[in-house]
Amino acid sequence: MAKMRKIGVLTSGGDSPGMNAAIRAVVRSSHYFGLEIVGVRYGYQGLMQGDMMPLGMRSVSSIIQRGGTILHTARSAEFATPEGVKSAVCMACDNEIDGLIVIGGDGSFRGAKELSELGLPTIGIPGTIDNDISCTDYSIGFDTACNIAVEAIDRLRDTSESHNRCSIVEVMGHRSGILALDVGIASGALAVLIPEKEWDLQQVYNMIEAHEKSHYIVVVSEAYKLPSQEVKKLIEEKTGMATRLTVLGHIQRGGAPSALDRVNATKLGYRAVDLMRKGIGNRVVAIRSDLLTDFDIQEALDMKKSLDEVLFKISQVVSM
Ligand code: F6P
Repeated sequence: MAKMRKIGVLTSGGDSPGMNAAIRAVVRSSHYFGLEIVGVRYGYQGLMQGDMMPLGMRSVSSIIQRGGTILHTARSAEFATPEGVKSAVCMACDNEIDGLIVIGGDGSFRGAKELSELGLPTIGIPGTIDNDISCTDYSIGFDTACNIAVEAIDRLRDTSESHNRCSIVEVMGHRSGILALDVGIASGALAVLIPEKEWDLQQVYNMIEAHEKSHYIVVVSEAYKLPSQEVKKLIEEKTGMATRLTVLGHIQRGGAPSALDRVNATKLGYRAVDLMRKGIGNRVVAIRSDLLTDFDIQEALDMKKSLDEVLFKISQVVSM
């Protein structure tokens, strides 16, 4: 078992609110367990370039409430090559880094696995607003992103109602409708259009025509089979209702993390360090049924996250 003396932490892929809370937990837990800890800036790109900074106990004061990531983040095409991975391992070795904690999504975990295979033990912490990481019920940033989107839709509802309009709201989610589904339920949407479900748009037109209401909210995942602009056009044409499209976009990724994101990020950060200090690598930490746990990275990547069918059914029942 590798003896850990000094470890690194980086954030990779899209940022998500609560990543700073996880960095803080990683740093404070490392100090608690007597490990030296450095922050790697700009994800794997920064690792290859040796862009690192020591993280003292107090360097993470007053970041728990901040969105974004103090370490910055990046998606690196260079790291995605065998040479890139090798050079990252060499740089870690030159800097006497014995293990690395990676906060990010599935793509980042694939990189972490390759680093582990070349001898640099890694632990992944799920961080993405999409909540599409299969091994965990929860990923850092999802709760905040949901709340931001719901707050925005509450505002849209006021103006939709005043003008008797239909509001189409595009919600983020690279390949997954998980975020859109929760947002749709929490905002009382008439329909939630997500990639996992074959919605016949005719059903949506029928629902609008059958309702006696004068305003509607339709949530569309960015991963839905039709672009939200097209959905807006079709609904307007087929129902004759004045329709407006709002793309929430990156607004959903910014701002102060919710209490839930801060608490879960702190738990996951602690768990990651607890594994590292024992010399355990090649794992992803996770929260399942409210319990902290961890999985082999490949096992975590192989799992499939299926849509919560009951939740989808409920969303349809309550929107009738
Ligand atoms: O994976 C997180 C996410 O916010 C997705 O929901 C979205 O599709 C993507 O990142 C956007 O990426 P970028 O920040 O590179 O535009």
